[in-house]
Amino acid sequence: MKILNVIIIMAIVLSSCKTNPKEITNKPASAYFKDQKIERKVDSVLNLMTLEEKIGQTVLFSSGWDVTGPTLNDNYLKYVKEGLCGNIFNAHTVKYNKRLQKIAVEETRLGIPLLFGYDVIHGHKTIFPLSLGEASSWDMTAIEKSARISAIEASASGLNWTFAPMCDISRDPRWGRISEGAGEDVYLAKKIAAARVHGFQGKDLSAPNTIMACVKHFAAYGAPQGGRDYNTVDMSDRVLRETYLPPYKAAIDAGAATVMTSFNELDGVPSSGNHYLLTDILRNEWGFNGFVVTDYTSINEMVDHGIVADEKEAGELAMNAGVDMDMQGSVYLDHLKELIREGKVDEKRVEEAARRVLKMKFYLGLFDDPYRYLDEKREKEMIYNPDHLKASLDVAKKSMVLLQNDGTLPLSGNKKIAIIGPHAKATVNLLGSWRASGGWDFVTSPFDAIKKYNKNLLYAKGCSFNGNDKKGFAEAVSAAKKSDVVLVFLGAPENWSGEAASRTSIELPQIQTDLLKAVRKTGKPIVLVLMNGRPLALEREVKISNSILEAWYPGTEGGFAIADVLFGKYNPSGKLPVTFPRVTGQIPIYYDMKNTGRPYSANSTEQRYVSRYLFTPNTPLFAFGHGLSYSHFTYSNLKLSAQEITKDQKLEVSVQIKNDSKVDGEETVQLYIRDLVGSVTRPVKQLKGFQKVLLKAGETKTINFILSNDDLKFYRKDMSWGSEPGKFNVFVGGASDSVLEESFLLKD
Ligand code: BGC
Repeated sequence: MKILNVIIIMAIVLSSCKTNPKEITNKPASAYFKDQKIERKVDSVLNLMTLEEKIGQTVLFSSGWDVTGPTLNDNYLKYVKEGLCGNIFNAHTVKYNKRLQKIAVEETRLGIPLLFGYDVIHGHKTIFPLSLGEASSWDMTAIEKSARISAIEASASGLNWTFAPMCDISRDPRWGRISEGAGEDVYLAKKIAAARVHGFQGKDLSAPNTIMACVKHFAAYGAPQGGRDYNTVDMSDRVLRETYLPPYKAAIDAGAATVMTSFNELDGVPSSGNHYLLTDILRNEWGFNGFVVTDYTSINEMVDHGIVADEKEAGELAMNAGVDMDMQGSVYLDHLKELIREGKVDEKRVEEAARRVLKMKFYLGLFDDPYRYLDEKREKEMIYNPDHLKASLDVAKKSMVLLQNDGTLPLSGNKKIAIIGPHAKATVNLLGSWRASGGWDFVTSPFDAIKKYNKNLLYAKGCSFNGNDKKGFAEAVSAAKKSDVVLVFLGAPENWSGEAASRTSIELPQIQTDLLKAVRKTGKPIVLVLMNGRPLALEREVKISNSILEAWYPGTEGGFAIADVLFGKYNPSGKLPVTFPRVTGQIPIYYDMKNTGRPYSANSTEQRYVSRYLFTPNTPLFAFGHGLSYSHFTYSNLKLSAQEITKDQKLEVSVQIKNDSKVDGEETVQLYIRDLVGSVTRPVKQLKGFQKVLLKAGETKTINFILSNDDLKFYRKDMSWGSEPGKFNVFVGGASDSVLEESFLLKD
């Protein structure tokens, strides 16, 4: 019987031509994954399956290799063999996964291949900068390439599914997972989400070097109250739709095959049981045709949320809301059959979930060849391939943001340099949180990488990241005294960012600031190099540093990238994708805020009863879009092609930018708008375009943008999506707080 079924499945697969290579470009979500031939093949497979086997396709267990949450089930092999677990995560390497795939293909009744998922977030073995760091590059080609290479390595290592991109907008740097996303802005995050999906999935999902993307965490996980992970999220539908949903949608419109639910509740309903999110919006409004997986045990957690009494009820809620696959919770495995028997879940709904999963196995080509991701030779060639390391170095350089510089940077080759601080000899910390299986054994620390430029170095750690031990200060001060310039490497260890790494204070720990102060007393110029995974409040440090470089966690080649930037081999070009407050108490602070009825203005006669703090300015320390270069750029001649336009006319915006320095450099020119009067209030600025341009020393370029009616739309008072006539301001510049301004009228 078993052999016969396997033969039938083979015949189904061979009965029509192979999976069509799919062009993956931005289309409406409904345009993807609706190949009728594949649907028919899935039907034929479903016809052979028992209910238990169908349920098995909705089950995802961790192999136990890597654990990213509570371990509930280490019996997964037994279930794989019985066809009751159709998908595995946290298993990788060809050797390991081949063994599991062989069991699924050769030892189960139907021989249906397994999916292998893993958190390939910013690289698999070759690690790229932390996602928030990559976002600082504002370079979509580089970001797509990083995802492409991650997929090449992951697929060579037996994987066919990554739990990325993380598309959660976050405006709360207390939340540790702000590090995994693209920052605070809707427009930039949409572009990055699409670039990452294109990179992971390539043009053809059935190619052996592409993997499925998973858009997560749906939805609004980035807005937990107080920045505390897993905490309640509550927002208006308008804010949800205008600010938080667009990046997920952009990723789905780029062809993402899967979506992951989030841990949080929204409007009182946890995401994994949220019909409004998973069915009304995702399926019915957006037309998503892939499958939905939960986040880790988040069906079970609905009991703790207090929306169901037990796990069985949780399974009912999740399945009926639209969850197709249960990650690690064992709820579907344990309860679906009974729920169907009791009439609480329709068997057709379970079949629909199984169909969606099987369909993706066809699109991946797993039914054509279950071992297509399991080639040892390819694994050897691809992991840490020199081209991948080169690309990682390139993105790392592009992701660094020069926050402040009085001319101390770039360094020249012959000075005596003191290298101080807990990050100076970082290796594993260069990789950052969510490095998954990225290896650090051959990672070069900033200290060692700097030797490439200058061997005249002194070193002192000075202190740890936290605590009160100042015993190392004296050595640090003495090294500083003997040097011409001091590089101080501060920040946070990688496990202070990421999941379950919320903080109530985003200032540097006092011990680190004290070290900086002690070194400052020597009077030597100080370059502060930061490695961290969230915006920091650096009010104290800006006053005692000559230059500050935000290096984020720059990845496998990060040490070299830092050295190249410090010594001017690479002219920094990164721009902040997120606001850096002065102090934690300003949070939430983001650039596209509302004006309020009592806006603060320095020129106003009224200074008390306005929207402000008593002892702290409203403005951030470093605004969204800020980032310096060793070049200097001057903007002039902002021009609009018309003073008035109608809804079907386009507006041309042009600006002149001059590199009035002696070094070639790259600048990201940013275009913002403000709709002055709306049926609901509008933000004071919204990003609507950007271009990264290279300008030779002394060169002037004219940069052109086109604004169309689409750029002026928003959710109006009645929740319809459209623009409204009236006055708009247009701003262009090198940061959200440094712009030229013009205006135009949108006519009816
Ligand atoms: C995280 C997800 C991740 C999953 C699997 C969860 O704890 O929230 O982002 O994909 O674990 O590792």
